[in-house]
Amino acid sequence: MEKQRTAILTLDDGRSLELPILSGSLGPDVVDMRGLSKLGMFTYDPAFMATASCTSGITFIDGDKGLLYYRGYPIEQLAEKSDFLEVCYLLLNGELPNAQQKADFSYKVTMHTMVHDQLARFYNGFRRDAHPMAVMVGVVGALSAFYHDSLDINNPEHRETSALRLIAKVPNIAAMAYKYNTGYPFMFPQNKFGYVENFMYMMFGTPCEEYVPNPVLVRALERIFILHADHEQNASTSTVRLAGSSGANPFACVASGIAALWGPAHGGANEAALKMLEEIGDASRVKEYVAGVKDKKYRLMGFGHRVYKNMDPRASVMRQTCYEVLKELKLENNKLFELALELERTALSDPYFVERKLYPNVDFYSGIVLRALGIPTNMFTVIFALARTIGWVSQWNEMVGDAEQKIGRPRQLYRGAAKRDFVPLDRR
Ligand code: CMC
Repeated sequence: MEKQRTAILTLDDGRSLELPILSGSLGPDVVDMRGLSKLGMFTYDPAFMATASCTSGITFIDGDKGLLYYRGYPIEQLAEKSDFLEVCYLLLNGELPNAQQKADFSYKVTMHTMVHDQLARFYNGFRRDAHPMAVMVGVVGALSAFYHDSLDINNPEHRETSALRLIAKVPNIAAMAYKYNTGYPFMFPQNKFGYVENFMYMMFGTPCEEYVPNPVLVRALERIFILHADHEQNASTSTVRLAGSSGANPFACVASGIAALWGPAHGGANEAALKMLEEIGDASRVKEYVAGVKDKKYRLMGFGHRVYKNMDPRASVMRQTCYEVLKELKLENNKLFELALELERTALSDPYFVERKLYPNVDFYSGIVLRALGIPTNMFTVIFALARTIGWVSQWNEMVGDAEQKIGRPRQLYRGAAKRDFVPLDRR
C-alpha cells in the first residue's frame, strides 16, 4: 500500500501538526485541513482562493491550460458532437446515455415541461417591467409550493423527479418571464419539439402563426446551453450546495443559485458585456476604453476569471458560434462583433492584461450570439440560469448522496469589539 503523504504545519510556539495530503484523479493535490481544530485554530481564506469545499466527480477545470471537462469529456467535443439533453443526462448520472436511456430521459423531461396552472398566476403579481431574473428567483423558488410529492431529499427517486422537473420547467418559466414582460400570451410547450426548439417556440412563437425553428440558430443556442451547463464550485453552485447542506428542498436551493448568478461578476456579466460593447460603440474608441480599464475606472466585462489564467475554452467555441450565427443571418459585418474582436486583440497585446492573465471568458461573445438570436439583453442571464440548472441540480444531488455531507458552516476571524458591558441610553 502506498504511504499516506502528509504536510507538517509548525507553529511559532513549537506545536506542530501532521496533515494528510489527498490526491484527486486530475488536478492539484489538496491538504486535508480538518485536523487543524486539534490546535484550536481555523484556516483563513476569504473568497475561497485556496479552498476545496467538497469532493466532486462532475466537472474538472484546469485554469492554467484552459481545459474544461464534464465527467471527463472535453467541452469542445460535447459542444460539437452532443446535444443538451444528453449533456444533462451525463452530468446527472455520470455516463453518456445509450440510445434507449437517451430516449427515456428525453421522454421523461418532455412529460414534465408543463407547469401547474396556478403557477402562471404568480406572474401577475410582478410589475411588467420587473427584471426577468427577479421573476426567476421568485417563480423557481415557488415550485417547492407545488411539487410536494418529490421533496424527500433522502429518497433518490424523489431527487431524480425533482431534477427532471427543474430541467423541464425552467425553460417554460424563463419564456413566461419574457412573455409577461412583453405583454404577449404565454405559450404552452409542444411535445413535437426538442428541448431547445421548444424553448425558442415558447419565447418567439405566438398563437397566431406556426413557428418554424431555424436549425442553425437552434444549434447555436444548444451550444450555449451546453457551454453553460456546469462549471464546478463557482459562486452560484457553492450557494446551491450550501443551501442544500441544511436539507432545504432542491427548488429552493436552485432559486438561491439563481440569485447568486445574477451579479455582474458572475452570470450577470453577459448582459454587462453587451452593454459595454454598445457603450464603446465603435472600434475607434477601443484604445480610449481600454485606457479607462487600466486606470481602474471600470472592468472589461467578459474578461478575466478566478480559475482560468488562459483562454476560457468556452470563449473559443462561443467566438466560432458567433461566426456561424452571423453568417446564417447575413450579418457578417456585425458592428458589435467586429468591436469585440478588436477589443480582444487590443487587450491580449497589452501588458496590463497579459501580466494579470486576463483572457476573454464565456460571457464575452455569448451576448453577441444571444442578441443575434433575438434574445433581449435582460434575458441573457436568464439563459445562463436555464442552462446552469442541470449543473446546480447535479451538484446538489451528488452532495445529498455523499455520506460525508454535513451542514456547511464556515467560521470567521472576529475583529469586532471585545466583551463590554451594556451602557444605558442616558449615559451614551
Ligand atoms: N478588467 C480589468 N481588470 C481586471 C478584470 C477585468 N475584467 N478582471 C480582473 N482584473 C484585474 C483586477 O483589477 C486585479 O488587478 P490588480 O492586481 O492590479 O488589483 C487582477 O486583475 C485580479 O483580479 P481579481 O478581482 O483579484 O480576480 P478575481 O479572481 O477575484 O475575479 C472575476 C474574477 C471574474 C470576478 C474578474 O475577472 C471580473 O470581475 N471580470 C469581469 C466580470 C466577468 O466577466 N465575469 C464573468 C466570469 S465567467 C462567467 C461566470 O463565472 O459567471
